[in-house]
Amino acid sequence: ERYNVAVVGATGAVGQKMIETLEKRDFPVGELRLLASPRSVGQQVTFKGQTYTVQEARPESFEGIDFALFSAGGSISEKLAPEAVERGAVVIDNTSAFRMVPEVPLIVPEVNPHMISQHRGIIANPNCSTIQMVVALKPLYDAYGIERIIVSTYQAVSGAGQKGVDDLLDQTRAVLNGEEVVGKHLPVGSQPKKHQMAFNAVPQIDVFEENGFSKEEMKMVNETHKIFGDQEIQVTPTAVRIPVLYGHAEAVYVETEKSFDLEEVRQLLEQAPGIKVIDNLKEQEYPMPAMAEGTNDVYVGRIRRDLYHPRGLNLWVVSDNVLKGAAWNAVQIAEYMVKSK
Ligand code: A2P
Repeated sequence: ERYNVAVVGATGAVGQKMIETLEKRDFPVGELRLLASPRSVGQQVTFKGQTYTVQEARPESFEGIDFALFSAGGSISEKLAPEAVERGAVVIDNTSAFRMVPEVPLIVPEVNPHMISQHRGIIANPNCSTIQMVVALKPLYDAYGIERIIVSTYQAVSGAGQKGVDDLLDQTRAVLNGEEVVGKHLPVGSQPKKHQMAFNAVPQIDVFEENGFSKEEMKMVNETHKIFGDQEIQVTPTAVRIPVLYGHAEAVYVETEKSFDLEEVRQLLEQAPGIKVIDNLKEQEYPMPAMAEGTNDVYVGRIRRDLYHPRGLNLWVVSDNVLKGAAWNAVQIAEYMVKSK
């Protein structure tokens, strides 16, 4: 059986990876509809050797579509996802528009695939920094329970879309050429102040909330609760943007409920789906964004006991934010649905 697939935001950083992933995974695509803003209409994209033309995303674009993968910003999803559902499509939405809506399953296939079947047309893809963290923590959550997480992120600029990538490249060139650095997009496109991203580290991802945490940080709190179905986990995040193009890294400190054996932790992580352990200090082997780029896995290394807390564990978690953090997680959900039909 073949499925008609629409990609909304087909010209964006994530949309392009969605198309590539559908091709790489040999997803049973019947008709493929590539949708974006009027600015991109007519742009040509190759998929499996065939040329497709980008069309404007409109309510009628979803006639006959089985799966609609959205990554064109929250307001587009709010407007067009219900139109797609009305026309019979299942929406897999990469934006934050519906993530915290109680009826909408928030899915990471390695963690809570059983929730997929509860959807009413829309399934949400979590935030990229949440996805890689919960994949790494799932085996530990199941074995020992988790009381507390303290996480600091080192996030790539592609999380801010193609404009984030372009901003860092332009600024890096400017610095190396001794020219004036002009920030155009980062840290937050919608806010007036721009900061230098090249050769810098910026502790702001998305806007700040009343409690002093950024929206990105609060996503890591709220989405982690929803995905594990556990409101009791104490999550303390600090989200930082660094001058990397693709691949987020996270220093994760966990306090478990039950005590753990470090060798068993290592084994659980090695056996868990979607995880590759790279942790050989003698050989200087540990995960890094540059090696995760272009792959679907979540990499875990620097596995070590805390110096003070008897149930404290430190991990270093790396993954390609536009693949497992977005495009691959979305296609993976679609694959699950196809397999369970
Ligand atoms: P376009 O390239 O035509 O602007 P990114 O996250 O990399 O910035 O990508 C955002 C994606 O969302 C792009 O594909 C962009 O298309 C798309 N997009 C932006 N605004 C709209 C809109 N009004 N309708 C449909 N797609 C949109």
